[in-house]
Amino acid sequence: MFNFNYYAPTKVVFGRGAEAQTGALVKAQNCKKVLIHYGSGSVKRTGLLDRVKASLDQEKIAYIELGGAVPNPRLSLVYKGIELARKEGVDFILAVGGGSAIDSAKAIGYGLANEGDVWDFYEKKRKAQGCLPIGVILTLAATGSEMSDSSVITKEEGWIKRGYSSDYCRPRFAIMNPELTMTLPDYQTACGCTDILMHTMERYFTSGGNMEITDSIAEGLMRTVIANAHILVEDPSDYDARAEVMWAGSLSHNGLTGCGNDGGDFASHTLEHEIGGLYDVAHGAGLAAVWGSWARYVYRDCLPRFRKFAVRVMGVSENGSDEEIALKGIEAMEEFFREIHMPTSIRGLGIDPSEEDIKLMAHKCAVATRGSKGSAKVLHEEDMYQIYKMAL
Ligand code: NZQ
Ligand code: ZN
Repeated sequence: MFNFNYYAPTKVVFGRGAEAQTGALVKAQNCKKVLIHYGSGSVKRTGLLDRVKASLDQEKIAYIELGGAVPNPRLSLVYKGIELARKEGVDFILAVGGGSAIDSAKAIGYGLANEGDVWDFYEKKRKAQGCLPIGVILTLAATGSEMSDSSVITKEEGWIKRGYSSDYCRPRFAIMNPELTMTLPDYQTACGCTDILMHTMERYFTSGGNMEITDSIAEGLMRTVIANAHILVEDPSDYDARAEVMWAGSLSHNGLTGCGNDGGDFASHTLEHEIGGLYDVAHGAGLAAVWGSWARYVYRDCLPRFRKFAVRVMGVSENGSDEEIALKGIEAMEEFFREIHMPTSIRGLGIDPSEEDIKLMAHKCAVATRGSKGSAKVLHEEDMYQIYKMAL
């Protein structure tokens, strides 16, 4: 068991109708002017944006708005948001949407609280010294960005997708009404469930340290997401299933499922970020596409935990060798992905990268990770290339 810090300062307001508390929650932040930041329009279509504005009006809170955050949110909009917010004297950002709107809001927040080019942080050239306070109204259970210290932005020039993490960007509050996720396309619900599982799996398949309590929480979370993802395939309007998945999403990426381990593996995420950057695919689907190949490539180096995962999470029987059991666990997870209509190969994403593109992705991945990534097994550029090839 390793020493750890656990810091989850976000106030969570969870349940039906929770968005009605927006005005009061923002008011408690003592801000003068709010930037409402959202995506490509779902919040308008569903009427959520109007309800949010009405709640702010009720508390006489001044606001401006900026939409347009797309999946794999772009740096150009971040720059636009920084300029607009600076001109308007904004001192609080309210993100309404999924991970993309939240991450874009976080990047704008960094840009406002720091001098110079915000992209420097994503390139790890320097560290942020602060971030404008952020509040969140979540409409998609997936990334955990509503409580996480991360944001992921794509720079159009070179299509480079990079993450930056610091506690400064952890949202002050997160409003989570599971009903808001009922308007999601089924594909996005499944992508979300995959991403949630992956955030815990990234912390579970490690080769250093562990805590039984953390493992138990992680395993319970994964079993819960799998069971409720199945329910949502059949009935997307099941409130309780939506609620289980939504809360799991936050707990999966707020640090809880990594306490006492070595910080996690995160190679699958790194591999996906290059696919998302280059081909603009949905993050969760990209993860499902590479995970099985990653798992088969690394499992022998992390056998005890793959065996434990197979038995405790996927319900594999303990008959057979450790290796056989571990492989059955990997197969069972891939079968689950298929059951919720997620791809288990890169071509299953509807793209067909050339040999050159695979080399490029492996290279960019190695650059992004400064040469290597992983805990279950440390991967270098050649390993990344091999996994992409296996995943094709
Ligand atoms: O843009 P709108 O119109 O809102 O539509 C979105 C978008 O098309 C739609 N949507 C969201 N809520 C909806 C809805 N449609 C109908 N009803 C609703 N209630 O869903 C689509 C996807 O939204 P997006 O925000 O892009 O999805 P997600 O939450 O999966 O975020 C993905 C981004 O987050 C990053 C990913 O890499 C990707 O860029 N991640 C962020 C993390 C973090 N900050 O901690 C960690 C993750 O590992 C991840 O990397
Ligand atoms: Zn993720």
